[in-house]
Amino acid sequence: MTVKNMKPQLCIEKRFDAIPTLDSARMRLFEILQNEDAGIEKVEGIISTDPAMAAKVIRLANSPFYRHAQRHLGMHESLLTIGLDMVKCIVLSMAVIDSLRCETKYARDLWSHSYAVALIAVSFGRNKAEKDRLFTGALLHDLGRMVFLFIAPEVYTALIDSEGFRPGEDLEQETFSITHTEMGEMVARKWNFPDEIAEIIRYHHRPVSRDSALVYLINQVASGHEMGIPEVDPASLDVVQPFVEYSYKDLVNTVADRYKTNTVIIESLF
Ligand SMILES: [Fe+2]
Ligand SMILES: [Fe+2]
Repeated sequence: MTVKNMKPQLCIEKRFDAIPTLDSARMRLFEILQNEDAGIEKVEGIISTDPAMAAKVIRLANSPFYRHAQRHLGMHESLLTIGLDMVKCIVLSMAVIDSLRCETKYARDLWSHSYAVALIAVSFGRNKAEKDRLFTGALLHDLGRMVFLFIAPEVYTALIDSEGFRPGEDLEQETFSITHTEMGEMVARKWNFPDEIAEIIRYHHRPVSRDSALVYLINQVASGHEMGIPEVDPASLDVVQPFVEYSYKDLVNTVADRYKTNTVIIESLF
């Protein structure tokens, strides 16, 4: 299918109703992981009851990036090795992946982008509440794109192919009469994520707060690296600066450094 053949403005509303709820067992685990007192034993006990998740955790911990010893790491050592932030990435993304059944290469590419943005975003949180918000908002910032891949897979993959990268909001608006930021916000609300998370998703291309500005900039830097153009557009400075306390140059450099480290880890997972 080419973009020209596509019927514009698909009946998105009807398909929106078909979006399933999030897996409640995994969301419960995600809540436990966000709880400060979640001990490693408790997390281990719950993850061990979910074979798909346990397999992912162990596979990542035993991947070349982490593995220093010759012997195979079991669950307990795997959790200690990859750390709770990475476990949270796995748990929340698997809950969404199960609901949206998105396992194509396009979806995998989106998840590895989203993991990178989330792992960097969390490092800018100044307290526990901020870290939690930045983490979840960043991991789900492109939720709308995943929803497009679920409700209109042929059309959205044709858009990605024709653009050679993730499509911009104008093209989405023209095609679906809704952008991925609006769609992501709607689904986040349908799934009962808090307002602050829905707001990061909605405004990650037009920041209105420190949270959305950080996710905006991290997304810009990550996308630039993925496209092979690591220089960030200087226009981003005006967009971000009113909301962040760092100098813009420092911020871009920090994000770029963290991006490089994290992508090595993430590549082991996908
Ligand atoms: Fe986006
Ligand atoms: Fe993004």
